[in-house]
Amino acid sequence: MPGIVIVGVQWGDEGKGKATDLLGERTEWVVKFNGGNNAGHTVVIGDEKYALHLLPSGILSPGVNPVIGNGVVVDLGVLFEELEALDSRGIDTSRLRISSSAHVITHYHRTLDKVQERFLGKRQIGTTGRGIGPAYADKINRMGIRIQDLFDESILRQKVEGALDQKNHLLTKLFNRRAIEVDEIVEDLLSYVERIRPMVADTSLVLNEALDRGEVVVFEGGQATMLDIDHGTYPFVTSSTATAAGAASGSGVGPNRLDRIVGIVKAYTTRVGAGPFPTELEGEEADWLREQGHEYGVTTGRARRVGWYDAPITRYATRINGVTDLVMTKLDTLTGLERIPVCVAYEVNGERVDEVPINQSDFHHAKPILEEHPGWTEDITGVRDFADLPQTAQDYVLALEEMSGTRISVIGVGPGREQVIVRHDLVD
Ligand code: IMP
Repeated sequence: MPGIVIVGVQWGDEGKGKATDLLGERTEWVVKFNGGNNAGHTVVIGDEKYALHLLPSGILSPGVNPVIGNGVVVDLGVLFEELEALDSRGIDTSRLRISSSAHVITHYHRTLDKVQERFLGKRQIGTTGRGIGPAYADKINRMGIRIQDLFDESILRQKVEGALDQKNHLLTKLFNRRAIEVDEIVEDLLSYVERIRPMVADTSLVLNEALDRGEVVVFEGGQATMLDIDHGTYPFVTSSTATAAGAASGSGVGPNRLDRIVGIVKAYTTRVGAGPFPTELEGEEADWLREQGHEYGVTTGRARRVGWYDAPITRYATRINGVTDLVMTKLDTLTGLERIPVCVAYEVNGERVDEVPINQSDFHHAKPILEEHPGWTEDITGVRDFADLPQTAQDYVLALEEMSGTRISVIGVGPGREQVIVRHDLVD
């Protein structure tokens, strides 16, 4: 059972880091295949809490080989900050391998991300401001800088000059900002060369060989289905392929090597940034759910938008990704609610629509059709067997399973890595 993909079902922050970590004990490789330091995983091990943005969460498990694949955009300053922070806490990070084809995020990408958002005014996307969109735009535009370019100073300089020729026009003439010097960027990038050299590898070859040996490789998706550049709520999305297909292209393995597709879904829904969100709550109910679930961004600290579970979204994500198993996180957050509403379909222009509408403006105006389920008051954070959950909690999970079209194999009942109920093994 070698290739396992982990993807977010909703708009991110579903608790993928915890699922990867749960598998981490049994796996040899954990690969990040998309996104960059826009992600934020909080992993709790014992009394220690680790917040990671760029590094795959598997880096915390001894015996796991973490890989940053070609589909990732790497901010080298952040990379070394995170590595140093882990080193100082005694975590061995020497096994990290980085694709030579991954692109880098530079100062001008971060600057452009911020000024473009400001320029959009009311239409802004609410990006994390980490330079993700501009770095991927350069990649698609064939003016990006790759990790391998760092090892040839003259090539690097030519590429930075090419990129800045155009960007400095934009920055100075359109956005009224100062021009960025070629030397400043080249010197910054070159300052990482010696440190990164031992980590750079042909990660596609390394991963294919590992799969050939039958080793378990976990492909950890950043962001989520509804933030995917193709299948998400465009333009309120991130700029990478956050769905399961991205695991193949973003790491250089064939799609037929992806054996299990695990979708991570919260027992309710959250979203950061702008864009449609049919089950969104406002006022006191929203404040209650946000506080109960500690729904504040790991990367930006922003209060997350919160709402009820949306079954059509899970069905959609199941279809787009080919999800074989769901991991449902944060069931314990709902403890104390008398009744738990769940979205089963939408009302669009006065008509019932059972699936995610194909037209974005319909999705913007979609009203959730809610079905209410009885809640529970018992503390479930210590439960490890499904049968020990209060009957109403079991019924809630089974109802969601039925609506979502895929089995719910694991249920999270608290932030600790051991706080899970495993109904079906993800690795067998
Ligand atoms: P970007 O990825 O910084 O370009 O941001 C684009 C959109 O994706 C914004 O709405 C962000 O809030 C959202 N986003 C990016 N990364 C994450 C994440 O890890 N969790 C949740 N939302 C994210």
